[in-house]
Amino acid sequence: MKKASLLSYFLSTVCSDDWYPPLDGSYVRFTYGHDLTLKQVRSFWRAAAARIREAPDRRPIGLYLHWPFCLSRCRFCFCDAYAPERVGEQRRYAALLREEIESLRDLFKGVAFTSVYFGGGTPSFAPDDVLEELFTLIQGSFTLDPSAQLYFEASPSTLTDAKLRLLRRHGVNRITLGVQSLSREVLLEGNRLGQKSLRIEELAARIRADGIVLNIDLMAGLDGQSPAMFMDDLKTVISWNPDMLHLFQFDPRPHVPSAAGAPAPEARRDEIRRALETGGVLLRRIGYQLAHEAWDTPELERADDRQDTEARRYNASILGIGANALSHAFGSGWYQHPIYGGPGRAATACRTWSGYAAGLDEEMRAYVLRNADTCGRFSLSGFRRLFAREALETSFLQRPLRRLLDKSQAVIEGDWYIFRLGPQERMIALKGFYSIDVISRVVKSRAAQWREFNARYGGAPDAELRSLLRGRERARYASHRYFRAPLSVH
Ligand SMILES: C[S@@+](CC[C@H](N)C(=O)[O-])C[C@H]1O[C@@H](n2cnc3c(N)ncnc32)[C@H](O)[C@@H]1O
Ligand code: SF4
Repeated sequence: MKKASLLSYFLSTVCSDDWYPPLDGSYVRFTYGHDLTLKQVRSFWRAAAARIREAPDRRPIGLYLHWPFCLSRCRFCFCDAYAPERVGEQRRYAALLREEIESLRDLFKGVAFTSVYFGGGTPSFAPDDVLEELFTLIQGSFTLDPSAQLYFEASPSTLTDAKLRLLRRHGVNRITLGVQSLSREVLLEGNRLGQKSLRIEELAARIRADGIVLNIDLMAGLDGQSPAMFMDDLKTVISWNPDMLHLFQFDPRPHVPSAAGAPAPEARRDEIRRALETGGVLLRRIGYQLAHEAWDTPELERADDRQDTEARRYNASILGIGANALSHAFGSGWYQHPIYGGPGRAATACRTWSGYAAGLDEEMRAYVLRNADTCGRFSLSGFRRLFAREALETSFLQRPLRRLLDKSQAVIEGDWYIFRLGPQERMIALKGFYSIDVISRVVKSRAAQWREFNARYGGAPDAELRSLLRGRERARYASHRYFRAPLSVH
């Protein structure tokens, strides 16, 4: 069989980058950076923290902690998630999180974090005493802004009453409950153990009664799940009155066990997309809004996941702790830890940093690209506020910005520079804003992957390679965040 050519490999995957500068948040094992020492990571943060102290109102910073363990490994899941073989594995991992926090915390004196996101995997699966210790450690190590959002990911089968009390005691003001599906058959097929609908309804009520903002995750397109089943689940979940709903179209990335990267037939994807649209119509009718459509409203800022919104809107810094966590030190650099990778790999995952230095020029490109990618426009005054200069007079942005205006592929309306392109064309046009350094990182990373796959499969593309070659398809898997304004707190 013919080998996949580097060009077709590159072209088919390049469209799926949606973050700038690139780091692999998709778990596909693209490597854009090189290994960094702790000393280099500390020097990134020393410089970034100084910048944040200069203008704290304009330079938010979030803390992310990754917990890669779950009660069972769902077969449909694309996350860095493992069902641990022994309880000790979680404790050993917690000790590594502590070590990383202790090795960096002195750099953040006088810096107030605006968000903490505890994600996974399933943080609510961690033993109570481990959670207690980690929250105490975070609160003792970092200053949290009085309005900080403390976000915690939970699964209904692991969020016990005792854990909920613990979270409330430590000031958690957001919980996301992964429900995915309410069908026993679908959950069984997906190896998602221990989930009971009655318990979820009760939990949802308790979370909201505690004044904690509740988000629920649902998935569409799972094995054995028809569009009608998804709609039934959505209606039931709506009756529990969540503040936010995150609807995910099943995305069969190469490492997802149930799909092994093979996309569902086009007809199946169409029916799933239609179900998601119908769900959206229903949600709008009862007062929910789609997050990216409310991009310039103050409600969104209050309502949505603050860490993600601040990163997309203002290039916020993120201090990522633990396996797989992505970090961004504003104006200094980017890095990530490798995925957890299973028992015995924790120390490697938590003590390896891979990334690269990137200065203010890259931040300026990132500002345009992230806003454009999320909502198809960026704020000219927002750019000025962050960088004290004009986007249209910045040498390396001027040409691509003006070219799009000349071709009527963009317009300026008031404070907004608006891209007038479909999602696919926009993704390609936005590559014109990439720096030479980033382009060469992307090309090198794609070439390394291409060599690895061709070597592994003797040139015969298997399901994994085929799915990577369908990067364009992957970019079209939808994930919609709905929220109901106004949300009262955090
Ligand atoms: C980090 S997971 C945490 C969820 C939590 N552990 C739970 O399952 O209850 C975040 C969300 O990603 C979504 N997700 C997981 N695998 C996915 C896939 N293959 N395609 C689309 N969405 C997926 C799920 O909705 C999940 O709730
Ligand atoms: S869906 Fe949640 S519980 Fe299931 S494997 Fe993924 S992260 Fe773990």
